[in-house]
Amino acid sequence: MEFEIRESLDATHADAVVVAVHDGTDKCDPRFAATANPLFASGDLPLKPLETLIIPGTPRIVFIGIPKTADAETWRRTAATVVRRVKKVKRLAFTGGDMRAIVEGALIGAFSVEAYKTSNSRPSLEKIILPGIEKQALDEGTIIGESINWARGLINEPSNRKPPRVIAERAREMADSVGLTTNVLDERNIRDLKMGALVGVSQGSDEPPRLVVLKHMGNPGSPKILAYVGKGITFDTGGISLKSADGMEKMKYDMAGGATAMAALRTLALFHAPINCMAVVPLAENMPSGRAQRPGDVVESMSGKTIEIINTDAEGRLILADALAYARSLGATHLIDLATLTGAARIALGPFRVGVMGNDQMFIDSFLASAKRAGEKMWQMPMDDEYRDLIKSTVADVANTGGRFAGMITAAKFLQEFVGDTPWIHLDIASTAWNDDEKPYLPKGPSGVAMRSLVEFALGF
Ligand code: BES
Ligand code: MN
Ligand code: ZN
Repeated sequence: MEFEIRESLDATHADAVVVAVHDGTDKCDPRFAATANPLFASGDLPLKPLETLIIPGTPRIVFIGIPKTADAETWRRTAATVVRRVKKVKRLAFTGGDMRAIVEGALIGAFSVEAYKTSNSRPSLEKIILPGIEKQALDEGTIIGESINWARGLINEPSNRKPPRVIAERAREMADSVGLTTNVLDERNIRDLKMGALVGVSQGSDEPPRLVVLKHMGNPGSPKILAYVGKGITFDTGGISLKSADGMEKMKYDMAGGATAMAALRTLALFHAPINCMAVVPLAENMPSGRAQRPGDVVESMSGKTIEIINTDAEGRLILADALAYARSLGATHLIDLATLTGAARIALGPFRVGVMGNDQMFIDSFLASAKRAGEKMWQMPMDDEYRDLIKSTVADVANTGGRFAGMITAAKFLQEFVGDTPWIHLDIASTAWNDDEKPYLPKGPSGVAMRSLVEFALGF
């Protein structure tokens, strides 16, 4: 799919033209009044938001409902919906709207989750025509949409095709192509750095762990370095604390945080953003075996803190503990981790909002403002000291689970043990990184959530 800039709309170049109709109005773009007026008269227009009405002809006219007040997210969803709904259209023209958001939405909508269908029906859409779009808006929208889809492709990949070493290779290829520097730690390096928590999680698998670091130093004169630390569990069986079979296949998406962190670096490199940032992604497969770690085991993390493993299924926080400590040792001055960390996030917030926790309210406020600008819904959770009491261990410094209460928060309190006094934000994307119910603008599958917020925040860092 390609984009084409045109100075003005010349409908003869398109097979279909998109015309947005505000909810509750009886007017649309006057150039289409001849078609639209009878439809308003008959009550077929206006349409509810994201409803479409396709009028045959050359070109076809695709009426789509939008809310009374349209923001960037409206245009993103509108474009994604149209791209998913039009069939047998090769050249599609938009007539107006937030052009950068339309580019992002069209790319997000065009993503296919059917990577391994042998009779994969090829999408017909070849060109999207955008009258009057600025070159910069087109470039930025393309980079953002393609970066989100890069993450989604990796998240959607089955786990037999993405063990830690393969993700590390894919990360390196991507990094080389956009001018990021890459450093990949293998198992030997990981052991030498005494990352006992990451080693403990990986030891049940025949696939060795990796730790990927991608760097973009766009402002070498500045002492500030932002690190995105993303959970990279390539498959989560639960380990010896085995998960039930029901829905376990979805645990291929347990590396969504890692993929999204790397996608954000991709975006910032292509933007030539004048800031310093890195992605730190610990990669491991959580498997049960004769070498797997057991409940009751104690591991020593890179930071020196000892951890009692109560439940081997709380593995994400373990690999993040070492990755957060490692990011600090690399000079990170600000940390944002993102992880499909807890089922409790799903219980607390449902599939609608990302859980946000941290240790620095100014940092959190500024991040939440970025998320809002990026059109991604998030919600801050409390982090009172009392929650720390729930993860006390009798034998070690801290336990890796906290019982029945406040599971999303106790996971964050565990992570907090490993960030010291560095400003830190934790995003629990367990309920939002995978879309379970197909939406007009989003298929079932990986959403790429948080990528745009990370980028938006970094651009003002
Ligand atoms: N990867 C899971 C969390 C998860 C669950 C993500 C469902 C997406 C959908 C994580 O590693 C996990 O298993 N967490 C446990 C923690 C518990 C043992 C304290 C959970 O939430 O059940
Ligand atoms: Mn788990
Ligand atoms: Zn997990």
